[in-house]
Amino acid sequence: RVVAVIMVGGPTKGTRFRPLSLNTPKPLFPLAGQPMVNHPISACKRIPNLAQIYLIGFYEEREFALFVSSISNELRVPVRYLKEDKPHGSAGGLYNFRDQIMEESPSHIFLLNCDVCCSFPLAEMLEAHMSYRGMGTILVIKVSPESANQFGELVADPVTNELLHYTEKPETFVRVSDRINCGVYIFTPDIFTAIQGVSSQRKDRATLRRVSSFEALQPANRSLPSDFVRLDQDILSPLAGKKQFYVYETTDYWEQIKTPGMSLKCSGLYLAQFRRTSPDLLASGDGTKNAAISGNVYIHPSAKVHPTAKIGPNASISANARIGAGVRLVNCIILDDVEIKENAVVIHAIVGWKSSIGRWSRVQASGDHNAKLGVTILGESVTVEDEVVVINSIVLPNKTMNVSVQEEIIL
Ligand code: GDD
Repeated sequence: RVVAVIMVGGPTKGTRFRPLSLNTPKPLFPLAGQPMVNHPISACKRIPNLAQIYLIGFYEEREFALFVSSISNELRVPVRYLKEDKPHGSAGGLYNFRDQIMEESPSHIFLLNCDVCCSFPLAEMLEAHMSYRGMGTILVIKVSPESANQFGELVADPVTNELLHYTEKPETFVRVSDRINCGVYIFTPDIFTAIQGVSSQRKDRATLRRVSSFEALQPANRSLPSDFVRLDQDILSPLAGKKQFYVYETTDYWEQIKTPGMSLKCSGLYLAQFRRTSPDLLASGDGTKNAAISGNVYIHPSAKVHPTAKIGPNASISANARIGAGVRLVNCIILDDVEIKENAVVIHAIVGWKSSIGRWSRVQASGDHNAKLGVTILGESVTVEDEVVVINSIVLPNKTMNVSVQEEIIL
């Protein structure tokens, strides 16, 4: 039997995702028409002998209650939300709920970050893990050497796949490696003993500090409570090269979702995955009564799209949205209850819940997902009046735009 744990973090973690995280927890933000966390959950559902999926976070229970009950019914796998009273770090959060996680007596535990976008090759990882016989296997990917230091950088033995060296977001200019940690792991229950070890070491040090001037020698450890344990710095780094951890390399796609711009890119990656695995989820555009569809597009069944609109590639239209005559949508996410009036154009943008875009208006951007203003974002309930142009900008909730803007953050 195996179980899966998805780390969803909490409200203080999603700040780079503003203004989209102001009224929805980031893990529930829709990508390709489904909450972000649905994508790893669907991947877990395909693991043989999966007994339970746990979401661990420090959001309020009520924020996840509805989601957890509906996804459990839909997928017929029990999904439970476990709330931490405070952040314990990625390993500390897991350890905190070890009794619940071990209730099913799992032989293996999958651990997934909720803010990564990939094909989640979990069955393949499990098979590789069984052949390595270590305590854990990490999903890794090769990235450009310039970008590797934004992630956990690692070196593995090319023959045995053993993890030899691990540095979390190295600050040095020396390039260690171009292989990085994807934030997807599989462990045996021995991981709890390893976390317990770090935690008791911290307790011992704290005692030592009280009786000596040890703290002055170890300022880096001063502020970390004993129950706060990070998987990367506190477990993977010290245990690298000890035949405990191994890597499984994916050659598929992988991205991290920290900003709204990246969520738009990842929405497109998941739509492309649907094209391969479940094309029935995508809009077809067949028939004279339907809008013209180009590329991969998701349209919620309750959305109303005028037959003269032109949609795609990479567009997701959520529940109850109304898309008027002659509207053009390219590379965008249109959230619930949005109205886009006749002949408006939306390109490289995310339009927040209940917003409205007037006739002949344009909401657009350069489409550079890594640039701060490369994707235009409208928060919840923003009104763009008729014939107004909003370019490379972020508009906070409840604003009315009656003049055109470019490269601005409207607070
Ligand atoms: N429940 C809970 N409690 N979740 C947490 C906590 C916590 O205290 N701290 C972080 N998380 C969740 C986040 O929501 C995210 O899904 C995941 O754990 C990792 O978050 P961070 O610890 O902030 O690390 P990161 O995302 O900057 O980097 C990690 O992931 C990268 C891959 O995306 C590292 O492991 C990197 O090495 C790795 O490359």
